[in-house]
Amino acid sequence: MKNFSFYNPTKILFGKGRIQDIAGEIPKESKILLTYGGGSIKRNGIFDEVMEALPGYHIMEFGGIEPNPSYETLMQCVEVVRKNSIDFLLAVGGGSVIDGTKFIAAAALHEGEPWDIVKTYGKVIKRALPFGTVLTLPATGSEMNNGAVITHRASRTKLPFVHPLLYPRFSILDPTKTYTLPPEQIANGVVDTFVHVIEQYLTYPANGKVQDRFAEGLLLTLIEEGPKAITQPMDYDVRANLMWCATLGLNGLIGVGVPQDWATHMVGHEITALRELDHGKTLAVVLPAMLDIRRKDKKEKLLQYAGRVWGLETGNEDERIDAAILKTREFFESMGIPTRLCDYNIAADIIPAVIEQLKTHRMIQLGEKMDVTPELVESVLKKCL
Ligand code: NZQ
Ligand code: ZN
Repeated sequence: MKNFSFYNPTKILFGKGRIQDIAGEIPKESKILLTYGGGSIKRNGIFDEVMEALPGYHIMEFGGIEPNPSYETLMQCVEVVRKNSIDFLLAVGGGSVIDGTKFIAAAALHEGEPWDIVKTYGKVIKRALPFGTVLTLPATGSEMNNGAVITHRASRTKLPFVHPLLYPRFSILDPTKTYTLPPEQIANGVVDTFVHVIEQYLTYPANGKVQDRFAEGLLLTLIEEGPKAITQPMDYDVRANLMWCATLGLNGLIGVGVPQDWATHMVGHEITALRELDHGKTLAVVLPAMLDIRRKDKKEKLLQYAGRVWGLETGNEDERIDAAILKTREFFESMGIPTRLCDYNIAADIIPAVIEQLKTHRMIQLGEKMDVTPELVESVLKKCL
């Protein structure tokens, strides 16, 4: 296991009715800006519940943060924050609203060009406004991590950035708030969480036995509970387990001391930037092909994954690896998420475009061994058609 430092300051308030406790987490004198997306929280009552839990607070609102939040929209919000001397942000929504709010928190106090925050992957951040979140879609882990992904629509650039100041102060995780999610978004969230775990687990052995077992526990839980979230949409325990899985999948815990991959994510981000395909769907397409092409480098962990997660113990090594990759693909498909580019009407002409974008974004040495080159990505994408 490699040396590591682990620090995660986000306070989690988990369970039914926890929005009621929000006032205890925000200083009374705060000037709050409540940020949200396309309006689902106004239709399903979450907005009203949050407002009722904050009587006497000075609260303004900013809506319209879109899925795959855009720099262009977020800069409008930065103006609102600056004009009104907002000093606390409250993100109510899914990963896009939370990520967008992280950008706003940093950009509002940034003295130079705000896009530099993204362009430097967060390195120029010196200060950020405090913020909390009310999570409505379990998927990204953004509610308990310090990362965000922002899209510059005009240049079709989707990039991640991180900074220690971007952990939420608190996050409210009430599984009942996910009941109104369309099945497609639940499925996207299950696939996204699954791939977060895989990106930190399915690399090469590093003797991180605890991390491996945590990761396998999360994967097994997703395989067990994911389909139930579609067939039994009002089952509290199913939603509670999925929500906690998503948070633990990307809050840093399982990734400490072990190598990490993230090539599937970086390729997926480019596909979304070019074709607006949902994040989870890009991962469902790229991951099976990525594992297949890199099966030699990932052999030991692929065999461990095959045995411990899918119970595949018979056949030779190649057969077990083939079966594990097929099981992964079938799991995504069983959640209603197709795993081929053609299923989304995306043809081979996307391949040179993705390669070009990766080069522009200096994503030319991806993966746990930094050996995932644009040429290798090209062969992966050919297998995704
Ligand atoms: O915008 P509203 O009206 O709220 O509707 C949203 C949106 O249309 C809807 N929704 C959310 N909660 C709902 C609901 N509808 C009904 N009931 C509810 N309770 O769901 C739609 C999708 O929301 P979005 O926030 O875009 O989804 P998700 O949470 O999957 O976030 C995806 C974004 O997160 C980034 C992705 O790249 C993408 O931009 N990621 C962020 C990460 C991070 N910060 O660590 C890591 C991830 O790998 C990922 O890259
Ligand atoms: Zn993801």
